[in-house]
Amino acid sequence: MEQTLSLEFLRVVEEAAIACARSIGHGRRKHSDKLAVEAMRKAMESVRMDGTIVIGEGERDEAPMLFIGEKVGMGPDDGHPPVDIAVDPLEGTNLCATGAPSAIAVLAASEKGGLLHAPDLYMQKLVVGPAAKGKVHLDAPVIENLEAIAKALDRKIGDLTVTVLDRPRHDQLIADIRAAGARIQLIGDGDLSAAISAAVSGTGIHAVMGIGGAPEGVISAAALKCLNGEIQARLVVDTNTASRENAEEMGVDFDRIYKTEDLAPGKNIVFAACGVTTGNLLKGVQFFGHGTRTSSLILTYASGLVRFIDTVYKHPGETITVRF
Ligand code: FBP
Repeated sequence: MEQTLSLEFLRVVEEAAIACARSIGHGRRKHSDKLAVEAMRKAMESVRMDGTIVIGEGERDEAPMLFIGEKVGMGPDDGHPPVDIAVDPLEGTNLCATGAPSAIAVLAASEKGGLLHAPDLYMQKLVVGPAAKGKVHLDAPVIENLEAIAKALDRKIGDLTVTVLDRPRHDQLIADIRAAGARIQLIGDGDLSAAISAAVSGTGIHAVMGIGGAPEGVISAAALKCLNGEIQARLVVDTNTASRENAEEMGVDFDRIYKTEDLAPGKNIVFAACGVTTGNLLKGVQFFGHGTRTSSLILTYASGLVRFIDTVYKHPGETITVRF
């Protein structure tokens, strides 16, 4: 499953990224999102798979496509098991609308049941890379986690950079990280892209801390599992009783710390992301007159492959000169 689908999913995220990249900086986040959603949905139509969206654009009555439960792909295929898919066609709608770094088009897939059906709530998250895996705890004081990460990476706390979403709810967290002496990368949006960066050495990001979306947490877990990183997360109780009841009906536990394996238990995970705007890890879409160039990351868990893929699309009828 992994091998056949990974290249198909590469095309799916590339199409979504290219479509919304045309609207970078236009200040219309919903429009950018719509472009990505439509392109991703269309690209999925030609994938030979029996796919079901388990994390998507919302429930059927509020999202016209890529809604939770929607069937995608060309249908049941002999010899290929059904696939669960979590999508975020444009992660960082504001980033795209303002031309800020690290907007991506992203999805994760697995055999049935391999991705937690997370409700659309917030999640408290702690993400680290392979070296610090197993050495941090979501409930430990910030300074203890930073000491553990610094020790694992054989450096001082002052040499660490932690990515945090720039939100008033993180005022205390930010103060604690600063008091411990670590550096902070405050981001306007996009903790999923940050989570992947934390698991890739050389990106300059050593951890992600704070509260962000639960669906993004599950997709992050799929990537982190493939990259041997770690996420620990707990759903944040919503004051809205309806959404809490909804979430409990889905079988989620508000007291539990979900680890990477709980969020993405699948054995055949495929993760695909394509840069929309340039970030720590991926370049954004480049349009150069006669062609288009994309930068993507494809991960397959069972085969352990990590592929950074640079694709040049030649526009029909054009000839192009490809630069390194
Ligand atoms: P978009 O849905 O606009 O793409 O935003 C993504 C995001 O910034 C995630 O990366 C993050 O997990 C979540 O939104 C944070 O939510 P909020 O903006 O409500 O704090």
